[in-house]
Amino acid sequence: MTTTLGIDAERPLFPHPVIAIDGPAGAGKSTVARALAQRLAFFLLDTGAIYRSLALLADQQGISWADGPRLGELAATLPIRFGRGDEDGAVFLAGEPVTTAIRTPEVSLGASQVSAHPEVRAMLLELQRQLARSGPCVVEGRDIGTVVLPDAPLKIFLTASPEVRAARRQKELTARGVKTDAEATLREQQERDRRDLTRATAPLKCADDAVLYDTSERSLDQVIDELVGIAKQRLGL
Ligand code: DC
Repeated sequence: MTTTLGIDAERPLFPHPVIAIDGPAGAGKSTVARALAQRLAFFLLDTGAIYRSLALLADQQGISWADGPRLGELAATLPIRFGRGDEDGAVFLAGEPVTTAIRTPEVSLGASQVSAHPEVRAMLLELQRQLARSGPCVVEGRDIGTVVLPDAPLKIFLTASPEVRAARRQKELTARGVKTDAEATLREQQERDRRDLTRATAPLKCADDAVLYDTSERSLDQVIDELVGIAKQRLGL
């Protein structure tokens, strides 16, 4: 049976372990996903980097972040590559490294805007699934457990309070040398949350069968230890 999402319900998508991690910005997703992937020796698929790369490429080509149809066309042939091995964590667009260029506040805003278009989400669906099929992986995003990989064997939805999330984002940006103030970071986060939560296509939400995990009061080590434990148990590692 094929569902409205184009998924063949009878065919398991994964011959290998996959962990879907979703949640709002600043919940600790990127850090947790990276650490979890490292501990389990899985590939980390950062799907936000795909939307960010699309926003950057659109900007370079003079395509408006509001132009859904043209962005959809651009997404259909997005020349993105994720580094492996020595290049782990690096992102390449048309062969050029964009690892840092896709992390600016401006591109964050652009990624949030381009990701709201149904044409874009539809085009990027298969790309994300293909990448996830390449081997054991941790897939990090907003709609991984609900839309991209609804049959992922382990889904984790990370949350944290808005204040904790904004403070973490601020620290992360400062560490990267991006100049911004705390108030602006909180404002940008609220704007992105609003967009991510209310968009018509694939809004951010916790899958029914996901493990809901609040990171506000826990240290990174605590979070990772607990999640590695859950992963080993659920995935039989
Ligand atoms: O996780 P991030 O901050 O790098 O994501 C950038 C933007 O892309 C963010 O506004 C949400 C969006 N996004 C999405 O809509 N779906 C995903 N699977 C990943 C990211």
